[in-house]
Amino acid sequence: MQASPQPAPAGLESPWQALQEHAKELEALHLRDLFQSDPHRFSRFSLQFEELFLDYSKNRITGETLRLLLELARQAGLERWIERMFRGERINNTEHRAVLHVALRNRSNTPIEVDGRDVMPEVNAVLEQMRRFTESVRNGEWRGFSGRPIDRIVNIGIGGSDLGPHMATIALRPYWKEGMTAHFVSNVDGTDISEALAQADPETTLFIVASKTFTTRETMTNAHTARRWFLKRSGGDEAAIARHFVAVSTNAEAVQAFGIHGDNMFRFWDWVGGRYSLWSAIGLPIALMVGMDHFESLLAGAHAMDNHFRRAPLEKNLPVILGLLGVWYRNFLGAGNHAILPYDHSLRLLPAYLQQADMESNGKGVTRDGRPLEYDSGPIVWGQPGTNGQHAFFQLIHQGTELVPADFILPARSHHPVGDHHRILCANCIAQTEALMKGKTEAEVRRELADTGLPRERIDELAPHRTFPGNRPSNTLLLRKLTPYNLGALIALYEHRIFVESVIWNINAFDQWGVELGKQLATRIEEELAGETPCTGHDSSTNGLVNRLREMAA
Ligand code: F6P
Repeated sequence: MQASPQPAPAGLESPWQALQEHAKELEALHLRDLFQSDPHRFSRFSLQFEELFLDYSKNRITGETLRLLLELARQAGLERWIERMFRGERINNTEHRAVLHVALRNRSNTPIEVDGRDVMPEVNAVLEQMRRFTESVRNGEWRGFSGRPIDRIVNIGIGGSDLGPHMATIALRPYWKEGMTAHFVSNVDGTDISEALAQADPETTLFIVASKTFTTRETMTNAHTARRWFLKRSGGDEAAIARHFVAVSTNAEAVQAFGIHGDNMFRFWDWVGGRYSLWSAIGLPIALMVGMDHFESLLAGAHAMDNHFRRAPLEKNLPVILGLLGVWYRNFLGAGNHAILPYDHSLRLLPAYLQQADMESNGKGVTRDGRPLEYDSGPIVWGQPGTNGQHAFFQLIHQGTELVPADFILPARSHHPVGDHHRILCANCIAQTEALMKGKTEAEVRRELADTGLPRERIDELAPHRTFPGNRPSNTLLLRKLTPYNLGALIALYEHRIFVESVIWNINAFDQWGVELGKQLATRIEEELAGETPCTGHDSSTNGLVNRLREMAA
């Protein structure tokens, strides 16, 4: 687990080099020793923000590491970049767009301008529209074509138009209106929509077609299938569509062309990135399921984190600390991945959500001005909820050869305080961070085995396998309870962490050109799959696969 030195981002040579030298000095230190030598390590390396508590003491850092990382951040102009984002500057340079998901949850309502125009009146108008609509659906005033109220929401979207609202809706399950259910369809695989439709009653189902562009192939294909299914079962009356289909998009023309009336469209703006959009009307399924008051509480939690990110000094700033730790592991200790381990069943979709948020944002190979990166950018983000992961992949985290910096996320109070469940869950979470940090030395293993009366040869044989190296880093994030407010703060914390890293790496975290090529090629291959003449226009593998697939499907 040795990091090879990486060249510095332009202008950061001096703090970068200091960090490289410092990383070498730390190589010999074990986290166990750092804890032993400093009884105050926990209080020195932890931060409280409202109902969130971050313990980052189980990281391979010292006070000096933090000092150097903060110097790196200052030299990269982090404070200036944060201001630029909040002020609506077009920091998404390749798309020439502002980056203002923070405006969507600006509950203090102070003006935020893009090109001299305050966006808050429009943001508030859409929130008002969402409130009117969600209340009428939830209180049964909104009726389906046959006069029955809505009891099932089917959200059709993909990427940011699915992962965010899906994750948050599931996370807030205890706040759902009784009798209402939500289903999320994203995959173009016909299985996804078929399964959703098999459970749906056309008289009581509301479809939300969620797409920033309203051109995404998967979403439009699913939406058209849902539309056909609905018309077939509602007597073919196009007018009935207005009672069962609404759209969330920036593209009013395409929404109209699909046959959704302007009154049933909820708009958002090009300064909202897809993966940062759950705070916009893309959050409509969340609001329908938990009610607008709770949705606004989610926004309020995120807004509180925004204010903290903008105002707290860097050394006391949670997103800054997490982002700098990310840079530390990625560029100075050679970690290629980062695990998200929520110890909360309701947060089971958080790893997938953060995968898109992080990997689509920081999975970049060139600087803002287009020069190839000579250092690593975003890591692979992955994870599963605890305790399931412990019985699957934790073996590798404990004893494998890969360095896996991990975030453990744990609410102190459960929404389901049945029996001993929550205590067992909490104990496991904390125990894992301890085991990863401390490990178990060979001497300890030998003593333990000797106490069981095992013969010497057997102990020699087993000891290396049962030794844990330890020194494996983790953050632990405690939440008092998974409320809408705390969930908002938690998600915003990760959004800003991603931004912090992108500033150090000098990359644009808000575009996603890397997804385009595959989309273009798929359009061509789709036609070829429908054709009859042998496919010859690609390389031999691609041609061969198209031809073989056609044969096998025949
Ligand atoms: O293909 C990637 C992407 O553009 C994501 O960034 C986005 O969240 C997703 O597709 C869906 O896009 P849309 O909301 O426009 O359908």
